[in-house]
Amino acid sequence: MSDSEQIWRYPPNLPVLEADDIHVWCGILDQPTRSFRELEQTLSLDELGRLQEIPSAILRQRFIAAHGLMRKILSRYLAIPPRQIEFFYDRRGKPCLANQNGDRLEFNIAHSRSLALYAITKNREIGIDVEYLRQLEKAGIIASQFFSFRENAELRALSPELQLEAFLSCWTRKEAYFKARGIGITECAAQVEVTLHPGQKARLLSLEGDAGAAADWAIHSLAPAPGYVGAVAIKNPRARLTCWQWPGNAESTLPRACRNALRSQRN
Ligand SMILES: CC(C)(COP(=O)(O)OP(=O)(O)OC[C@H]1O[C@@H](n2cnc3c(N)ncnc32)[C@H](O)[C@@H]1OP(=O)(O)O)[C@@H](O)C(=O)NCCC(=O)NCCS
Repeated sequence: MSDSEQIWRYPPNLPVLEADDIHVWCGILDQPTRSFRELEQTLSLDELGRLQEIPSAILRQRFIAAHGLMRKILSRYLAIPPRQIEFFYDRRGKPCLANQNGDRLEFNIAHSRSLALYAITKNREIGIDVEYLRQLEKAGIIASQFFSFRENAELRALSPELQLEAFLSCWTRKEAYFKARGIGITECAAQVEVTLHPGQKARLLSLEGDAGAAADWAIHSLAPAPGYVGAVAIKNPRARLTCWQWPGNAESTLPRACRNALRSQRN
C-alpha cells in the first residue's frame, strides 16, 4: 500500500485485533474546550503531575488530549474504562500496560504539533514516530551524525524539493525502530539502515550490517494528514496495517483522499 492509497477510516466501536494486525490511530490534539475537560478526567495522578510541569497552555492542552485519547483508544481493546487503565515504564522509559494476562496488548505513541499517532498490536515490539514537515536548519548536521554513509549519499543525490521529506522519512523510520526497542535514537542510529527515497517502499535494510536481522522487522510509512510524515516499526515481517481516524477529528484536518473515503463510508 503506498502512502497516497493509505485510508484513515472511522473505526468500529470494538475493533478486532488479530495476531498479525497493527492498528494505527490518528488523533488531532487541538480539541474543543469541552472535550479537554472530559479527557482530563481520565488522567492518572502521575499524568496530572506531569501536566503541572508543562510551561505553556497550548502544550498542556495537547498533553491532555494526547494522553486522554490514548486512554480512550486503549479502552476499546481492553474493555475497561479509560481512567482504570494502568501503565508502568520500562527501565528506559517506554510506557507499557500493567496487569495483563495471556496475550499482551503492545502500544506506542508519538506526537508532533497538533497530531498524535498511536500504534497497537499484540505480543510484538512496536514503535511509532511522526514529525511535522518543516525546514530544519540542522538537517545536514543531524544526517551526518545519525544516518549511514549510504543514506547520506542517497539524500544528497536528491533534488532540493525532495530532500526534506526524504530526511524526515529516514528519521521517523529509524526513530520508530528505536522506540519499538524501547530506546531513543542514539549515535548508533547510523548502523540501522532504512530506505528513504520518496516513493520507495519503507523498509529496514540492515541492523549493524546484518540484512537477515532486519528481515525480522516491518516498517510502514504513514501519511496521517497534510504536512506530517510518520512511520511505524514492528518485529513481525507479516504485519498488516490498518489506519483509524479518531471519530472526534475534524474532517477539515484530513487529506482529501481520506475525506472522500470517510464520506463514502457514511453514505
Ligand atoms: C523520548 C524519545 C523516545 C522520543 O521522543 P520524541 O521524538 O521527542 O517524541 P515522540 O512524540 O516520538 O514520542 C514521545 C512518546 O514516546 C513514549 N516514550 C518515551 N520514552 C520511550 C522509550 N524509551 N521508548 C519508546 N517510547 C517512549 C512516550 O509515550 C512519549 O509520550 P509522552 O511524553 O507524552 O508520554 C527519544 O527518542 C528522544 O528523546 N528523541 C529525540 C528527539 C529528537 O531529537 N528529534 C529530532 C527530530 S528531527
